[in-house]
Amino acid sequence: MTKRRILVTSALPYANGPIHIGHLVEYLQTDIWVRFQKLRGNDCRYMCADDTHGTAIMIRARQENRSEEELIAEMQASHERDFADFEIEFDNFGSTHSDENRELCAEIWQSIRDAGLVKEKDVEQLFDTEAGTFLADRFVRGTCPKCGATDQPGDNCSSCGSTYSPAELVDPKSTLSGTTPEIRSAKHLFIELEQLHEFLNDWTQSDDRLQPEIANYLKGHFLGDPLRDWDISRPAPYFGFEIPDSPGNYWYVWFDAPIGYIASTKQWCDKQGEKLDDWWKSDDCEIHHFIGKDITYFHTLFWPGMLKTAGYRLPTKVHIHGFLTVDGEKMSKSKGTFVNARTYLDHLNPSYLRYFYASKLSAKVDDIDLSLDEFIAKVNTDLVGKVVNLASRSAKFVAKVGLSAEYPDDGGLFEHAAAVGDQIAEAYEACDYSRAMRLIMGLADRANPFVEENKPWELRKDAAQAQQLQDVCTIALNLFRQLAIYLSPVLPRLAEQTGELLGDPITNWDQAKTPLVGTPVNKFKHMLKRVEEKDLKTMIEESKETGEAASAAGETATFEDKWNDGGEALAAEPRAEECSYDDFMKVDLRVARIVSAEQVEGARKLLKLRLSLGGGETMQVFAGIKAAYEPEQLVGRLVVCVANLAPRKMKFGLSEGMVVASGPGGSEVFLLSPDDGAVPGQRVH
Ligand code: MSP
Ligand code: ZN
Repeated sequence: MTKRRILVTSALPYANGPIHIGHLVEYLQTDIWVRFQKLRGNDCRYMCADDTHGTAIMIRARQENRSEEELIAEMQASHERDFADFEIEFDNFGSTHSDENRELCAEIWQSIRDAGLVKEKDVEQLFDTEAGTFLADRFVRGTCPKCGATDQPGDNCSSCGSTYSPAELVDPKSTLSGTTPEIRSAKHLFIELEQLHEFLNDWTQSDDRLQPEIANYLKGHFLGDPLRDWDISRPAPYFGFEIPDSPGNYWYVWFDAPIGYIASTKQWCDKQGEKLDDWWKSDDCEIHHFIGKDITYFHTLFWPGMLKTAGYRLPTKVHIHGFLTVDGEKMSKSKGTFVNARTYLDHLNPSYLRYFYASKLSAKVDDIDLSLDEFIAKVNTDLVGKVVNLASRSAKFVAKVGLSAEYPDDGGLFEHAAAVGDQIAEAYEACDYSRAMRLIMGLADRANPFVEENKPWELRKDAAQAQQLQDVCTIALNLFRQLAIYLSPVLPRLAEQTGELLGDPITNWDQAKTPLVGTPVNKFKHMLKRVEEKDLKTMIEESKETGEAASAAGETATFEDKWNDGGEALAAEPRAEECSYDDFMKVDLRVARIVSAEQVEGARKLLKLRLSLGGGETMQVFAGIKAAYEPEQLVGRLVVCVANLAPRKMKFGLSEGMVVASGPGGSEVFLLSPDDGAVPGQRVH
């Protein structure tokens, strides 16, 4: 097999907060993949860095009365400690606030300019005259222009749900200074992504670079329309890099962040005497990005567009994972399920989480759930009960004599497990770790009965059975070692302990093909203890306290803690270009009642609805909501519909309008409902 050269990255963690167990889904997923590649003998390198720029860091540094540099240095040290303690091993961990990154940004920027993709437009934003800064939406609060609710965030009302721009808020106040901000216009630089439309269409839709659901999502949400210009600059003050040919303007953090992947590689190359171009401009190597679904847009449209324009090679694959939920719900500070990496480490062994995530992760974009009961069951039943027990029940009986000189007849157990190695490797390669773990536990399920039937603890009582005892333990320990090799990308610590026990370090996948014989066995040292429910409980309690303390200290805007709304949905689909009120009013939105709903024969996604606008006026609509709703649930309910959409002839009949819904599609579609009191036919505006 030829050795592959593989460059791997995880998304760069923001320097404005600590690593938490949600982040760890990604860093563990990536670390496992990298360790697997290394174990297979590939030349695989794992690059990452802290993402240090942007308004949030600038504001926080101000609040804490220190420089941004000091703040990001402290955060970086804490991130690196957390990663190291979770056994996440980078080949290089850099920072976007580095000289390498600044230079690469300038070079790539120049190429984008040269390609004629940059244009200037004026943008109106609220400006805090006291703090001397433009205000991102979340730093403005005021009265909702629609319903009059007070103290609402700058982009949408938590009371009536309407969205607006911060400039529309009644009596807006800056959360930084408490003063009333003014509207100011500033010049911004935009990248005309539309010029790359054809390239991106092709790149995202071919060669299995993206998971099929992601390719479809991009096609359905973005690539069907002209791509929006990308606002790439921010006026001073901004913590970032000033744009060399546009003084007073800074690159928006999302411009320099992905370039951080290259900058981190550059640092590593300089240390190793390697050439950057051999990794980032060569077809002899693969590049794999691992990211969460919230930042899909940046990595599958902007980033390939930038690389293409600047003459860099394009990623081989972008592997996208879902979000972590805890006991079926979004992580929550008040419930104590927003657990920081450090809090976890204070109470629990990192191997538990490494194994648990591995057992849940697949190549799909689905969210993964950490159920606390399942966590305990998996660790105790699988890891301790099935794997570690194999060693702890046999090693001590051969500490004096070592392994038998020849591998005894085990009825084909070792050979079978050696053969299954290929399937396990395929599963790792495809990021289907849950399948890999199932295969490995299947092997453990064959090994354990062997020990139970042969009872080494009985054999040792009878001196005449010494050979038999040595043989049984030789088999048990070799079967155990195979499992430890297959698990070693997930459980590096267990692999290390196994290497020590048997005097033979685990460094290569193929070691699982040949049994160890005639070698000494060291004294058995305890490997992994069972999880105690009380430790989990203490961890959750402590996370509650940290969460409360943080909000009491006003660390983040309080509504964010209260509602715990992450920014994923917005990040996945940034706001559309401004439209006028008249543009908006062209769309006639009405309250309607669903009076009938039926399945459509032969349609995979559609339900046929009849909507009533009252007074006998009805419309027939085909809606792509089949995966999310049963027809019976729908009849009688009120929805919002577009009442003046040009009718569309479909395979199944005429669709005369549209019901409005949010969500990414499939089973995640959410119909909008008016509050009580609304009646069919009322206009929505
Ligand atoms: N700084 C950007 C990435 C820049 S990459 C050029 C960022 N940082 S982040 O700290 O918010 O997130 C880092 C990674 O962790 C992202 O891929 C994100 O999807 C992932 N996760 C953050 N919270 C998560 C969960 N709750 N669950 C799973 N992954 C999560 O985005
Ligand atoms: Zn409101």
